[in-house]
Amino acid sequence: MTTATPSAIPMARSWHDDDDLRAVEAVLVSGVLTGGPVVEAFEAGVARFLGAEQAVAVNSGTAALELALRASGVGPGDEVIVPTFTYIASAAAVAAVGATPVLVDIRPDQPTVDPAAVDAAVGPRTVAVIAVHLYGHPAETGSIAAVATRRGILVIDDAAQAFGAVDAGRMVGSTGTACLSFHASKHLSTGEGGMVVTDDAAFADRLRRGRDHGTVGAYLHASLGSNHRLSATSAAIGTVQVGRQQAWLARRRAVAAQLGAGLPQVAIPPRAGAEPSWMSFPLRIGPRRDMVLDALRHGGIDARSYYPRTLHEQPGLEGVARRMPAPVAARAARELLCLPCHPHLSDEDVERVIGVVASAVASG
Ligand SMILES: Cc1ncc(COP(=O)(O)O)c(C=O)c1O
Repeated sequence: MTTATPSAIPMARSWHDDDDLRAVEAVLVSGVLTGGPVVEAFEAGVARFLGAEQAVAVNSGTAALELALRASGVGPGDEVIVPTFTYIASAAAVAAVGATPVLVDIRPDQPTVDPAAVDAAVGPRTVAVIAVHLYGHPAETGSIAAVATRRGILVIDDAAQAFGAVDAGRMVGSTGTACLSFHASKHLSTGEGGMVVTDDAAFADRLRRGRDHGTVGAYLHASLGSNHRLSATSAAIGTVQVGRQQAWLARRRAVAAQLGAGLPQVAIPPRAGAEPSWMSFPLRIGPRRDMVLDALRHGGIDARSYYPRTLHEQPGLEGVARRMPAPVAARAARELLCLPCHPHLSDEDVERVIGVVASAVASG
């Protein structure tokens, strides 16, 4: 007798079909492989979806952050507050423009930045805060905006993991400035890619110049920048993917509801007023986190520790960042794990995930 091995459940799935193929083919046949109407159509599609006024496509989420900082005038001598519990790009972009990342703690009940910690970290050189919406959980946008207004600093949303997240009835990116990633692991995948969405037309013009070596005319460069242009083939895939987001977000939310109902002791409930877009589903396991991760992997389930160390502990930021106390984040790095929560999971997949977590937690 043979026992069927359960199929692997990936953390994310970049999903494409004939529509994507036809869109890429049309670009190849057109001969316009960068810039042009296909990139503009993608920008318009994302702006429409998020309720943003302006959108500027670039070639990664990291580039989006870097450009948004540069176009805001952030540079050497400035400090930018960043939660220490995030992907390295949130702080690396600050360092890339010559400013100093100031690493602060997260909330005890959420994986997102603590507005009180932001307030406490503001110093004479602070010019901005990067609000990271981790796992698709919106950071506390209202309180962060209140601190920022009172302290006279800018807010830039790092929505790389949060396409379609809603806080207090507003889609992240519909106001202010937000940076998106279209990496293969994200909600909307073009392989690599990113975008800055903003409600400020003059700022969007600076971003457009910034993504293209400060170009203001034929071989005329008003400022120094870099090449952050998105290819038209990626943009063509992106436009097809935008059309799927509504249905996929609904499915992500249904998967999250099923996971939350099945794992009530370890799930992290969203803050009141927040509607996460669930890039992944975080659990607070406690000291046995690595044992539960091993059980999931053994069961063919690609769960992850996002992130096993805070930015305080990243060697690459040694001597680069200013570190504020962050005991809550340090604990989260030891105790949290993330489950897959994407639209390509069946109800049976989700039950399997719940079963493995529940029995690992019970056996610990
Ligand atoms: C929170 C966060 N910010 C920024 C980025 C950077 O995006 P990209 O990988 O497209 O450069 C990522 C990517 O994973 C991310 O998770």
